[in-house]
Amino acid sequence: MAKEPMRVLVTGAAGQIGYALVPMIARGVMLGADQPLILHMLDIPQAAEALNGVKMELVDAAFPLLKGIVATTDVVEACTGVNVAVMVGGFPRKDGMERKDVMSKNVSIYKSQASALEAHAAPNCKVLVVANPANTNALILKEFAPSIPEKNITCLTRLDHNRALGQIAERLNVQVTDVKNAIIWGNHSSTQYPDVNHATVKTPSGEKPVRELVANDEWLNTEFISTVQQRGAAIIKARKQSSALSAASSACDHIRDWLLGTPEGTFVSMGVYSDGSYGVPVGLIYSFPVTCSGGEWTIVQGLPIDEFSRKKMDATAQELSEEKTLAYSCLN
Ligand code: NAD
Ligand code: LMR
Repeated sequence: MAKEPMRVLVTGAAGQIGYALVPMIARGVMLGADQPLILHMLDIPQAAEALNGVKMELVDAAFPLLKGIVATTDVVEACTGVNVAVMVGGFPRKDGMERKDVMSKNVSIYKSQASALEAHAAPNCKVLVVANPANTNALILKEFAPSIPEKNITCLTRLDHNRALGQIAERLNVQVTDVKNAIIWGNHSSTQYPDVNHATVKTPSGEKPVRELVANDEWLNTEFISTVQQRGAAIIKARKQSSALSAASSACDHIRDWLLGTPEGTFVSMGVYSDGSYGVPVGLIYSFPVTCSGGEWTIVQGLPIDEFSRKKMDATAQELSEEKTLAYSCLN
């Protein structure tokens, strides 16, 4: 029997990530090739004409799974009945700006959209915040939507996770699908800590630790980390716009794994509400290694943390605490 359509909201759908993301969702990349869907697209009135253009293209593409389109500038209409909400709407960082610069513009959007989601989304709606500062926007959304379970509110660090896998695959000249279990700890910002201490590569003679195969701790502890941390800025410098297709693809990975599960023995990175695991303060949305099953994520426990990692995990937590304080000062 055919499945009932799911409703998926994309905010900021007339923007550049939106333009890459909605065809991926409509093709089944996010929810699976047998899952019909109704796409809800929200943007602001100034972008209404462009939004309508995206709607026209979606109709023209004749996606078999796409059973309906709601394209609107009304936040209540956009949020009504949605099962998945991908929050991309906001103002992107431009060349030379730090994420903190976009804070005041974006956190107030997340405060007001929290209330709309809380009141109108389907029960158990799963929320992914992409717009920067992603962790702190997600935290504001969580705090102003107290009836949405905190486990349902996440932010995107899968792009950073995928960037880490990509760097290792390039360095070792292996397929990216053979590399797994890198971790992004902390903030989706330049203080994030890309950690390969638990990452492995599939080889003809079994799985081997990345550290053994790269055999260059100096590169792993310096250039690898800074390349992943600075990749967003490097893309902005090269394209004069922030990453879009990779962000869209990673957002699909994040939701797909969350809903459909991670493969056995594989963990991925998600920004989730800290429960104090690994000594990370409760009250932050922090990127952890997680596994997913039955539509729920679980933080991977018991990984040994060395002193080098501890310092970097604490530094990014510290930045998130400061962002939280700044966000509240912007809202007051
Ligand atoms: P963009 O400017 O092309 O698109 C953003 C869209 O949001 C625009 O169409 C704008 O009109 C819309 N918008 C603004 N306010 C809105 C509101 N209140 N409600 C609904 N829509 C609203 O930007 P983009 O390149 O698509 O990037 C979107 C966001 O994603 C930015 O904040 C960017 O920094 C962030 N980003 C995050 C990651 C990540 O990995 N977490 C990666 C790339 C980009
Ligand atoms: C990215 O990681 O590509 C985005 O978050 C853009 C940015 O502001 O760095």
